[in-house]
Amino acid sequence: MNRRKFLQLSAVSSALLSVKETLAAGTSGTKPIVISTWAPNIKANAEAWKVLGNGGRALDAVVAGVQVPEADPNDQSVGYGGLPDRDGKVTLDSCVMDENGQCGSVMAMEYIMHPVLVARLVMEKTPHVQLVGDGALQFALANGFKKENLLTPESEKAWKEWLKTSKYNPMITVENIQEKIHNNQQEKETPYPWPVPRLNHDTIGMVALDAKGNLGGACSTSGMAYKMHGRVGDSPIIGAGLFVDNEVGAASSTGVGEEVVKICGSHTIVEMMRHGYSPEAACKEAVRRIIKNNKGKAKDLQVGFLAINKKGEHGAYATIKGFNYCVTTAAGTKVIDSKFMI
Ligand code: GLY
Repeated sequence: MNRRKFLQLSAVSSALLSVKETLAAGTSGTKPIVISTWAPNIKANAEAWKVLGNGGRALDAVVAGVQVPEADPNDQSVGYGGLPDRDGKVTLDSCVMDENGQCGSVMAMEYIMHPVLVARLVMEKTPHVQLVGDGALQFALANGFKKENLLTPESEKAWKEWLKTSKYNPMITVENIQEKIHNNQQEKETPYPWPVPRLNHDTIGMVALDAKGNLGGACSTSGMAYKMHGRVGDSPIIGAGLFVDNEVGAASSTGVGEEVVKICGSHTIVEMMRHGYSPEAACKEAVRRIIKNNKGKAKDLQVGFLAINKKGEHGAYATIKGFNYCVTTAAGTKVIDSKFMI
């Protein structure tokens, strides 16, 4: 064999090896299966499993699961008890997507404890995909949802503490970022990442594969704590915070939503799986794009992705240490620490 042929063959076999490694990085598949972001959502998985374990539909399972943190006043990142925006208002975002490619979402909605149920209703009862703010609230009230105060004393106290720090903190805050927007200087003078609180968990993103082999997903959050009023992140955006393709798989995200939106995170992951990537390898590629976008400034930027494929294999990846996810199958539930890039 001449040297040229040898080099060509070596290049081909190392490319094949790398493809093989990419495809192999993952888990053995099983169904039914449900996975969700963050260890505390083990309770949400238990609720979802009541549906999945009895042969129920993936969409019904995730909608049941997501309602658990939504109703939990001690979960300060989702639903009731969520930390408010900088004006003290609790505004919620949620979306759902089913095995038929149908989806619905609500964004920046106040006063309704279970935005996931309203998102489902948008999907099932309207010709639209997204309802926002007062329009979402009016739709919910017209469909029998109850208006409730979602700001718990604990979250109000935390917000008031933040207001004090914000006032005296010399760091650039969301508040004076807005002043800079008015001055048209935002791009030059705003450092990134923003001073977002380091939470040990946030958004619930949940995806499931049911016994019939159908996929479904849901996502719900109160969004970034002390955000500007009206800010919406990735969680209610189909393709960013959640995406389901019943031929391929499903993915969801948690963390700084702006970065997920910029790379259409969940859609990217599903497309990578379509092209043969394992769930973990697909999540890793999404994380790589976020880190590339932030050019060495991502060391405090938490974004986590999780995914399942049509075979019931699962995986996750995060920008930095600390992300974990819950997996429930007939064999039980486990919490897995996600791999991370930085
Ligand atoms: N991932 C939640 C948010 O950024 O709003």
